[in-house]
Amino acid sequence: MCAGTRCTIVTQSHCDARRVAFRSIFARLTSAFRERRSTAWRNGLTKKVSVAASCAGMDSELRQTRARVQAYYAHTMDDYSEFWSGPADSALHLGHLDADIQGHSASLVRTNEYLAAQVTLAPGCDVLDAGCGIGGSSVWLTQTYGCRVTALNIVMEHLLQAKLDVRRLGLTSSVHPVCVDFHQIAMRDESFDVVWALESGVHSCSRLVMYGEFSRVLRGYGHLVLADIMIAERAQMNRSGALALDALTSGWALSSLTTESRMLTQLRAAGFKPIDVHDTSSLVAPSVARLGDLARTAALRTDEEVASGAWTQIRVGNIRACIALDELFREGTLRYVIMSAKKVRGQREAAV
Ligand SMILES: C[S@@+](CC[C@H](N)C(=O)[O-])C[C@H]1O[C@@H](n2cnc3c(N)ncnc32)[C@H](O)[C@@H]1O
Repeated sequence: MCAGTRCTIVTQSHCDARRVAFRSIFARLTSAFRERRSTAWRNGLTKKVSVAASCAGMDSELRQTRARVQAYYAHTMDDYSEFWSGPADSALHLGHLDADIQGHSASLVRTNEYLAAQVTLAPGCDVLDAGCGIGGSSVWLTQTYGCRVTALNIVMEHLLQAKLDVRRLGLTSSVHPVCVDFHQIAMRDESFDVVWALESGVHSCSRLVMYGEFSRVLRGYGHLVLADIMIAERAQMNRSGALALDALTSGWALSSLTTESRMLTQLRAAGFKPIDVHDTSSLVAPSVARLGDLARTAALRTDEEVASGAWTQIRVGNIRACIALDELFREGTLRYVIMSAKKVRGQREAAV
């Protein structure tokens, strides 16, 4: 829990429910790690793969991941507001540019529309915006569909901005920004009809834990909709591609860039039945190119400013990451995917 924000009050029964959910997820993780360890032994790779350490270090991994994400967004908040998000969208995601719309801001709102088309949204339905940024989608969901939205984030600067906007727009009774980590959602089981995760999963240090939490807080047969940058299934990675991928993940504090097939496996393991998968890379390409162009211009400008100490390493890393994203997208190593999945009650059903 973070100091300084109005955090959700956690009752004993919430804690118990969370403990039970965590124990079951942890048990699944442990068996997954055991499986990986025995595979590693079989392959004679034990020295290279410290599987047990990664399991035992889950808590510290969570803390470190959180700290990296918080530092990244705290340092780049002004860059996002100067170059990317505007008052009509309040978005920290990529845009979808199709034949029906024009302009950057409209493309950012269009991304919301593409996700919304995957799920059933109605007045009064409860949505969890997991990794809400500065609250753009949460506000949009309330204004467009009349949903009640709980907006999760771990970055204080984002939450503060979201709260200011929600208050300014008179939406305090329907949008609730809270400081909660999506790996440890301090909320009751079965509280939401829809979980919305727009470009936030890439920061997760364990998608299995995160999806497990999404499944726990969803009502029976509730829906998860997510959008993420993904590694193409048969990506051929040469040395420069690997360097670009490294620049992207370190510069943007990403912990889990993954492939579609791995993500589907993880969703099933967490109790979801995937429904639809849409590769929207071609619609997102102009937005990625815009980001690359902005970053290249900024990169020229920053050399001097970096030397004078005006730019932090994190801001410089952000620019390198934007350029790397553009390169990797152009060569087809990365894709953009929107996915929806339904919570199922039994593992067997999820596996179908
Ligand atoms: C790329 S931004 C997308 C924000 C928003 N969904 C949007 O589309 O504008 C990712 C967001 O996820 C949040 N985030 C990252 N890790 C998180 C975590 N463990 N728990 C909650 N939020 C997290 C970040 O702080 C950031 O606001």
